[in-house]
Amino acid sequence: MADIGRAVAALRAGELVAFPTETVYGLGADAANAEAVAKIFAAKGRPADHPLIVHLPDAAHLSRWAIDIPDGAFRVAAAFWPGPLTLILKRHPRVLDAITGGQDTVGLRVPNHPLALQLLREFDGGIAAPSANRFGHVSPTTAAHVRDEFGSQVAIVLDGGPCVVGIESTILDLSGDVPRVLRPGMLGRQALAQILGSEPSYGGSDAPRVSGSLEAHYSPRTPLRLLALEALPDELLVALDAGLRVGVLAPGQDRTDRPNLTWHQASADPGRYAHGLYAVLRQFDAAGLDRILVAVPPAGEAWRAVADRLGRAAAGSK
Ligand code: TXA
Ligand code: MG
Repeated sequence: MADIGRAVAALRAGELVAFPTETVYGLGADAANAEAVAKIFAAKGRPADHPLIVHLPDAAHLSRWAIDIPDGAFRVAAAFWPGPLTLILKRHPRVLDAITGGQDTVGLRVPNHPLALQLLREFDGGIAAPSANRFGHVSPTTAAHVRDEFGSQVAIVLDGGPCVVGIESTILDLSGDVPRVLRPGMLGRQALAQILGSEPSYGGSDAPRVSGSLEAHYSPRTPLRLLALEALPDELLVALDAGLRVGVLAPGQDRTDRPNLTWHQASADPGRYAHGLYAVLRQFDAAGLDRILVAVPPAGEAWRAVADRLGRAAAGSK
């Protein structure tokens, strides 16, 4: 495919290429080229000490980027790659400091998207790629979202349609004594436990630096409040009576019939909710609303990743 050829040539020339994955779109650069990697940080406005994930064509590339790889890493890779899982492993000495943020570990993943896999295979190397959004903003799940973020600053945006999963990969740290999930994703803890033999814990306060672990992240520009479902109708009426234009993401239907209200019915299925979440937040932003009200999602492990992103979106709005 001609687009892939152009993208590979751009990567080899040290340029940035945005590409689709099953989770969110990535802003990619040759992970072995320090100048190219520096362009990612400049374009995103991302602090230099925030490490990047290196995307690989397949698990056979693991040993080029990591050392002391535990058996469990090969097993989860075999089970879930290509797929929405990033592994944190001890870095190979060749991995650039710009990639690891100077830490002794590196994040690696094989994404499950035909265009990404074709790009990685033809490039035949590691592609460093954060989500293709400006630092702290909502991750992109379509090529149009990437263009909205970067305009002509990123010359090549491979269009692979809307991302199937819709929120970022699960990050599993296998570099320490015990497996830990540093960022929840739609690949859940129970699925990992079946392969690892025990449930990984969630990252504690000594977790390595993960930009997704900053409290404020993934935020729309419109102030977002997360409310218990029962509290939402009252809050909504107060806001509407004050003349505010409000977007609501909650189960059920709009029963107020008020002109300043945009209601998006939340899915009762966590997978569908995650798939549409970032696109809805971007729609609300584009509509020029004054406030976004979101009903707290249901409790439970299946909703953990969605609840995590909503919590950070709300924290980032303060
Ligand atoms: O689904 C995804 O993972 C997407 C797609 C494009 O692959 N990528 C993504 O990248 O979400 P980014 O940069 O937006 O988030 C990657 C997270 C960051 O929070 C970063 O700090 C963390 O991974 N990370 C990378 N290397 C790490 C390391 N060595 N130790 C701990 N965290 C690391
Ligand atoms: Mg990101």
